[in-house]
Amino acid sequence: MARKIIIDTDPGQDDAVAILLALASPEIEVLALTAVAGNVPLHHTERNARVICELAGRPDLPVYAGCDAPLARPLVTAEHVHGKTGLDGVTLPEPGIALSPGHAVDFLIETLRREQPGTITLVPIGPLTNIATAFQRAPDIVPRVQEIVLMGGAYFEVGNVTPTAEFNIYVDPEAARIVFASGAPITVMPLDVTHRALTSRPWVEGMRAMGRIGQAVASWTDFFERYDREKYGSEGAPLHDPCTIAWLLKPQLFSGRYINVEIETRGEYTLGMTVADWWRVSGRDPNATFIREVDAEGFFALLTERIGDLDRRVG
Ligand code: BDR
Ligand code: CA
Repeated sequence: MARKIIIDTDPGQDDAVAILLALASPEIEVLALTAVAGNVPLHHTERNARVICELAGRPDLPVYAGCDAPLARPLVTAEHVHGKTGLDGVTLPEPGIALSPGHAVDFLIETLRREQPGTITLVPIGPLTNIATAFQRAPDIVPRVQEIVLMGGAYFEVGNVTPTAEFNIYVDPEAARIVFASGAPITVMPLDVTHRALTSRPWVEGMRAMGRIGQAVASWTDFFERYDREKYGSEGAPLHDPCTIAWLLKPQLFSGRYINVEIETRGEYTLGMTVADWWRVSGRDPNATFIREVDAEGFFALLTERIGDLDRRVG
C-alpha cells in the first residue's frame, strides 16, 4: 500500500523537485500540497504549488493555501536565493488549477481526524507555521500523525541564513519549537546532509536531455546553483527538500542518530538554531532522528530514475 503523505511547502525550486519526486513514485500517495509563506510570500508559494501540479500532469491534486506569516514574527523571505517568484529559472504557464477552498490548517486537522491514526506522514519542507498552528489548535491530531519528515536545521554545517540557523527553522522558530516538542516521531534532514546532495553538471545535463519535466528541473537547479556558487564557491546546487522524499523511498541511502533536538527561540546570536545533542550529553530525551550522511550517488540515481519515469509518462 502506498504511504499517504501531505507535503507542506513554500516552493522554491528544490521544493518543486521534491514534489515531482513524490508524484513520480508509486510507493507514495500525495493527498495534497499545503502552501506556507517562506521562500517567498504565500501568494507566490500557493501559485507555484499549482504550477508544479500542472507540470506533473496532476491537476486533480488539491492545493491549499495556509499561513501567510510566522506565528510571532514578521516573515523573512529568500528571493535572493529563489528569485522574485520563488520558482525563477523557467517560465511555465499560468496554472489552470484553482486553489482548493478552505485553509491548509483546517485541511490538516480534518484529514488527520478523518483518516486512520498512524497512516498520514507530514512532509514539511518550508517553515513549520502550518503544522504548528494545526497542532496548537487541535492537539488531538498529534498522536494520529504517523511521522514527520522535515527539511530544516543544521548543526555541524551550521547556518545558511545566520551563522547558526537554517532558513526554514529561522523563519518561524516558535513554530519549530512546537513541532519538535510535540511528541510526534520526527526525522530531520538538516543542512549537514542536504549540502552533500549537490547536483553535478552531468546530472543536470541528463535532466536537460529529457522532456518538459526534466528540462524544468535542469533550469531550476541551474538558477538555484548560481547562488550557492557565489556564496560557497562550490559547484552544484544542494537539493535540500528532495532528501525528505528520498528518505521515504529509500531510507538505506541515509544515516543519522535518534537524539534530542531543541530549537533556540531567544538567543541573541543563535535564534532559530537546532541544538542537536549529537553526543547525547544533555540528558534530555531524544525526540528526532537527525540525519547526517547521504549516499549522494544513490540519491541522484533515484532522482534520475523517477523524474525520468514521470517525464516519459506526462512530459
Ligand atoms: C531550505 O530553505 C529553502 O530555501 C529551501 O527550499 C529549503 O527548504 C534550505 O535551507
Ligand atoms: Ca523549501
